[in-house]
Formats: sequence, structure tokens, C-alpha cells
Amino acid sequence: MRLKISIPFPLIIFTAFLSSLLFTPLTTSQPPAMSARSLDALLQDYAFRAVQVRPKTGVVFDTTLPENLAGVNASAMRLRSGSLRTRGVKSYREFQIPIGVVEQPYSKRIVLVYHNLGNFSSRFYPLPGFTYLAPVLGLLAYDATNLSATGLPELEIRASEEPISVRFSDVKFEQNGTSFSPKCVYFDLYGSVQFDNLLRGNVCPMVKQGHFSVVVEATAPSPAPAAEEYSGAGKGRGKSNTGKIVGSTIGALILLGVIFVVVWKIKEREDLKKKKEKKKKLEQETEWGNERDEALQVTSFGNIKAPFAMITRTQPVLEDRYVP
Ligand SMILES: *[C@@H]1O[C@H](CO)[C@@H](O)[C@H](O)[C@H]1NC(C)=O
Ligand SMILES: *[C@@H]1O[C@H](CO)[C@@H](O)[C@H](O)[C@H]1NC(C)=O
Ligand SMILES: *[C@@H]1O[C@H](CO)[C@@H](O)[C@H](O)[C@H]1NC(C)=O
Ligand SMILES: *[C@@H]1O[C@H](CO)[C@@H](O)[C@H](O)[C@H]1NC(C)=O
Repeated sequence: MRLKISIPFPLIIFTAFLSSLLFTPLTTSQPPAMSARSLDALLQDYAFRAVQVRPKTGVVFDTTLPENLAGVNASAMRLRSGSLRTRGVKSYREFQIPIGVVEQPYSKRIVLVYHNLGNFSSRFYPLPGFTYLAPVLGLLAYDATNLSATGLPELEIRASEEPISVRFSDVKFEQNGTSFSPKCVYFDLYGSVQFDNLLRGNVCPMVKQGHFSVVVEATAPSPAPAAEEYSGAGKGRGKSNTGKIVGSTIGALILLGVIFVVVWKIKEREDLKKKKEKKKKLEQETEWGNERDEALQVTSFGNIKAPFAMITRTQPVLEDRYVP
């Protein structure tokens, strides 16, 4: 009984320590496991909440995003559909919207949600073989009839006359170091990617809503993320994370098994040794006990061994008190 209590305790500490070592990389400072499309839905929700406070038209409202999206910016602008078509929006962050932009299906009021994915750009829009020279920017349109609505489908917006232009303010040309020229990249909402020439002034033209950035072909193909394809849903990442978790769980279990077997063997050997010792002691004691005509046994209380007499041969009789 004593052994069973004293051995597992350090074992528990040790395995807890090992498990914490194995599992910490999965739990600390992981960016949100979220697809590009669920990010769109999340940003729509936050943008609508920002507009709700003071639903004025033509005003830019910044959002306050959760901490795990630090580095991402989103804002909202509410517009009458008519004014978008007839007047456009001179400047909404990096976007310039000319006259003649129409939405499908028609809604009287719309909210234009702006995204700047900052340092999350390549996480949500991985592009193997290319390097981002600017953050991914997005412009998506939603029906503004119900400002409490979540999970809204995007409206199709289309520039029918001039294209909408995106002017990238800080293109990191110093990163290029290649003979390739920078390109505009366009991601639509359904997972397809298109490239276009970067215009003078770091401008990318756009005719539909979606996400945009400036990229340059990488000199050497980046080896690690090469297998990851842009699917618009980021499913691959989820799978690899699950794989990691399963892998480390199996690893931890195997390790636990090995530790358990080793400890079990040690314990068995110790038990055997203890048994032998006990037997020897008992034999010695009985010899000694025979001499004194009294057997003393060793009993343990926790870790303290105390000899005590099991049988007292002659019961003491208190004669002065007990008189039959
Ligand atoms: C992105 O940058 C912000 C600061 O601008 C930082 O707090 C955040 O941890 C960064 N995220 C990633 C995934 O690098
Ligand atoms: C996001 O907005 C904040 C405040 O307006 C600004 O300081 C920060 O640079 C912006 N980040 C990006 C990536 O644009
Ligand atoms: C607006 O959307 C919210 C959330 O989806 C819903 O509960 C509410 O009934 C809607 N209001 C109207 C007027 O449709
Ligand atoms: C990067 O590329 C741009 C355009 O191709 C060029 O003007 C610039 O000089 C290049 N910078 C470096 C550091 O190679």
C-alpha cells in the first residue's frame, strides 16, 4: 500500500510537466483558426455594430476588433444606393469609387465594409511563390436594411463605367530584390485569383468587390507553404492543425506508456527486494523471538517502522483492583 502511494506522485508531476511541454506550442498565441470567408462574416458583424451607434450616411466608422485580430483593421460606410451610382465616393481609405457603380440585388441602402488585413494578409490569403509588398485590402458591400443582421450575403457590386481604384500607400519595394515587376493580385469571394498590372502611383483597378494587394514573384519558391493552396476557405490549415494535435496526443500517450512500464518494472523489483528483506528479517526475528519466547513483528505506519508485540504471553493482572 505504501509503495503504491509513494511512486505515482513524482510520476504524475513528471508526466504533467512533459504534457505541458508537448501541448504549449498549440495553445499559446495561435492566430484564430478561421477561414477567409468567416473573417469576412466576422468583419461584417463588427462593421455593422460600428455603424449602428450613429447610422449617418457617407461617414467612415472604424471598428474595434477582438485582440486576436490585432493588426487587422476594418471600417464601415453607409450609403444610399442612389448616391453610390450617381456620385460615387471620392475616397474611402485606399479606395476611390467613381460614378456608375451598381449593386445586385438592388437595395435602397448599403454598407461598404473596408478590410485591411495587415500582417494577417498571407495567413488568410496564402499565395505560394509570391511575396506581398502591401497588405491585403478588401471592399465588400452588404444590404443595410437591418443593421443587426449577421451572416449576411454580400451584394455583387460592379463598376459599369470607370473601374474602382485601389491606391496602395506603402508598397514595400525594398523587399523585391528580384527582376520581376510587382503585380496587382485580386481574390474574388469564391476562391479564384487573378493578376493584373500595377498602374502608375501603385494603383490597382477593380471592377468587382473582393480583396486586393500588390505582390512580386519570389526568386526561390518558398518551400514550407508551397503545398498550401488558396481555397477561399483555408481548410488545409484546419487539417494540419488537427494533425498536429493528433500527433502530439499519440506521442504523449506513447511516452506515458513507456514511463509507466519503466516505473512498473522498478516498482516490481523493489517489491521483490523488500519482500526478501522482510522474509529474512522475519526469520531472524522469529529466531530471536524464540529465544525470548516472544515474537516481535515489524509494522509500518507510513514510512515509520515500529516494532510491537503481537501476542503477550502472560496477560498482566491488576490484582489490587480486580478481585473476583
Ligand atoms: C500583427 O501585428 C500586431 C501589431 O501591429 C501584433 O499585435 C500582432 O501580434 C501581429 N500578429 C501576427 C499574427 O503577427
Ligand atoms: C489600423 O488602425 C490604427 C488606428 O487607426 C492604425 O494605427 C494602424 O496603423 C492601422 N493598421 C493597419 C494595418 O492599417
Ligand atoms: C434583423 O436581424 C436580426 C438578426 O438576424 C433579427 O433578429 C431581426 O429580427 C431582424 N430585424 C428585422 C426588422 O428584420
Ligand atoms: C524593386 O522593383 C521596382 C520596380 O520593379 C524598382 O523600381 C526598384 O528599384 C526595385 N528595388 C530594388 C531594391 O531592387
